[in-house]
Amino acid sequence: MTQKKLQSLLNKADEGFKILKEHLDNENIVRIISHNDSDGLSSAGLVARAISENDGQFHVSIISRLHEEFIKKLAREKYKVFFFCDMGSSEIEILSKNLKGDVIVADHHQITGEINDIEGNGNIVHVNPHLFNIDGTQELSASGTAYLIMKNFEIEHLASMALVGAIGDMQCENGFLGVNKIILDEGLKKGEIKVKEDIRILHKDEYLYRALAFTFYPPLTGITGDFDSAKKFLEKIGINPKARYNELDKEEKEKLKESLCKINPDIYGKIYLDPGFGQLKDLRYFSEILDACGKSKEYGLALSICLKNKNEDIEKATKILKKYNEKIIKGLKWLKRENSKKMKNIQYVYTEDKSIKPIIGTLVSIAMSVGILDDSMPTLGLYKINNHVKVSARTNMSVVEKGVNLGKALKRASDSVGGNGGGHNVAAGAMIPYKEMNNFLNIVDEIVGEQKK
Ligand code: C5P
Ligand code: C5P
Ligand code: C5P
Repeated sequence: MTQKKLQSLLNKADEGFKILKEHLDNENIVRIISHNDSDGLSSAGLVARAISENDGQFHVSIISRLHEEFIKKLAREKYKVFFFCDMGSSEIEILSKNLKGDVIVADHHQITGEINDIEGNGNIVHVNPHLFNIDGTQELSASGTAYLIMKNFEIEHLASMALVGAIGDMQCENGFLGVNKIILDEGLKKGEIKVKEDIRILHKDEYLYRALAFTFYPPLTGITGDFDSAKKFLEKIGINPKARYNELDKEEKEKLKESLCKINPDIYGKIYLDPGFGQLKDLRYFSEILDACGKSKEYGLALSICLKNKNEDIEKATKILKKYNEKIIKGLKWLKRENSKKMKNIQYVYTEDKSIKPIIGTLVSIAMSVGILDDSMPTLGLYKINNHVKVSARTNMSVVEKGVNLGKALKRASDSVGGNGGGHNVAAGAMIPYKEMNNFLNIVDEIVGEQKK
């Protein structure tokens, strides 16, 4: 990333800030629309937090996808300013055609269409790293993009909120890079963020065997997602599976660390903390809490946590996270039994199970990382909704480095069967007509084959 590209991105973000500030000075309510995952919720939380600390007002909606009908509904609402997070880049034209007020888009998805056509009719400030050739998959999340706009308000903890979203979108697997790293440095400089080397286990108040089974990142092959194996592992190294991490003595902690490092050395490494967030001080834990709230449709709770970090909200969300993690464990067992159907260049799993459907993307991603599924080819998770099929596709960076771009593949394949889709190179989604499922799979298989050449 060159200084010039970064400066252009920052200038665009400043434009967004100026417009927003003007609306707040005029006491206009800011209409925030954001995505229902961890990055989307922390984006909305970050924007709402900065507005509320400036004595401004906002009205938030959390949605899974931005449809034209929803935009038309917004157009009837008479707000003077709209703030879209983690979405909007693919809908700039529709937004500018329908919305009369000012529109700020803070997105980080790949942009389709002509660069010249994406500014809208002048009422849109479109902030997206990809516009400036900065990688929005690895180097900046939606909450990071929102941060670049909102940081001008000089509110505390915004850098930490930005990184919570980046972690949620798995942009911290090799430490923070690019603009994320700049945000981290800003948080460190302000003294809000602390970085420590430590064992990377969350849920330190849980029985250890459960905490280990709940360790989805970094993946612990043979332990992640499996209570029984986690128990056996602990027994083998002479540690009581029902001890809690915080109850272990120094020697036991060392023994645990050594044994886990043999499975995955990344289990010991940098952890990012904002002590100001109390029980949610570990930013990865904060991100997991938001992810679980999102998957459980507890959007109000997630936003409230981002705004105030109240203990009673956190306790409620902690219970939701535990249940959600148990669902992931059940889902991984199902995937182990089911396995994937392999094509030439991709593999897929299909489900009609209600408890699996909302987490299929997460499941295939974790399953590839711990060897339940072959990780040398992208995996598509599919399920039926009415007459359509929802697709979640995931792969890893080593497949991306061979040329694969799932966002582009799913966009092209879904367009050609009358559906819609897109996303990032490493993770993408689509919605297609049910009757086109096999056709769609064949097309994706072919495109991924072409991309690898
Ligand atoms: O891919 P998706 O957004 O559904 O993943 C949701 C969350 O699941 C991630 O934010 C991350 O916390 C967790 N996850 C993980 N390891 C993976 C895949 C997902 O920890 N391989
Ligand atoms: O809509 P959005 O961009 O936030 O979704 C990104 C998705 O990509 C998340 O589900 C995230 O967990 C997933 N992801 C992934 N592996 C990566 C980066 C992102 O599975 N390396
Ligand atoms: O829904 P899922 O978590 O699988 O989405 C992965 C990525 O694909 C997200 O970044 C999401 O915004 C994108 N997506 C898309 N079009 C769809 C579905 C998902 O661009 N129809």
